[in-house]
Amino acid sequence: MSRKATTVTGDSKPVSSSQPFSHPGLARVVLRHLRGKSRRPPALHTRKAFEAISDSVEKAGLPLIFDSFCGTGMSTALLAQRNPQALVIGIDKSSHRLGRHQPGATDNYLLAQADCGDFWRLAVQANWQLEQHFLLYPNPWPKPGHLKRRVHGSPELAELLALGGQVELRSNWQVYVEEFGTALVLSGQHPHINLLEPEEPLSLFERKYLQSGHPLWRCCCQLVHNRPS
Ligand SMILES: C[S@@+](CC[C@H](N)C(=O)[O-])C[C@H]1O[C@@H](n2cnc3c(N)ncnc32)[C@H](O)[C@@H]1O
Repeated sequence: MSRKATTVTGDSKPVSSSQPFSHPGLARVVLRHLRGKSRRPPALHTRKAFEAISDSVEKAGLPLIFDSFCGTGMSTALLAQRNPQALVIGIDKSSHRLGRHQPGATDNYLLAQADCGDFWRLAVQANWQLEQHFLLYPNPWPKPGHLKRRVHGSPELAELLALGGQVELRSNWQVYVEEFGTALVLSGQHPHINLLEPEEPLSLFERKYLQSGHPLWRCCCQLVHNRPS
């Protein structure tokens, strides 16, 4: 069996990987992380970023949407505009990307410079529950040896599950989306995967990939309750 190479008409290259299908070690890694409890403590800079916004979040008392790995926060502002009933929090570790944020049409969003996994963990500890959680084009980490850096191969999957809500992950690498879906199934969830054909891009990477003719994949899942004891 072989998978057809992605056609490219723009200037962005498709993800290149020696791993054409889901990683053979995926189930072992996911199940180990789901059983495991030990985690390193959240980094100080993320604790500070969390503390800086947690009062506003709790005072607002609005449904919460996370836009994890938000880059410049273009999607954060658009999601806020589309969801005026909610508070949207964009999280990215890069001050450079966040520094390029263009303010949106509404003010019901916040940006945090933080590590997503640590931020999720602090949010779980604070008993936050999400209405929606977007993960748009996380770094693919395409080498087989990078599995544990992918969201579903990392211990942080447990926190993502505990935060609940409607999760939507998008990627231009089909393997990543299929692995994410498998990890959710292994966690007792019921995801579905489809090809996405957005009329308007939600993020800068989505725009770049659309212009380059990449197929865009999406995994959606309404998470059922899964809070660690
Ligand atoms: C491929 S870009 C996608 C950005 C944006 N979602 C988009 O679609 O335009 C991936 C982003 O993830 C961020 N990132 C990678 N690892 C991260 C982590 N552990 N915590 C927070 N942000 C991270 C990077 O800084 C980068 O902005």
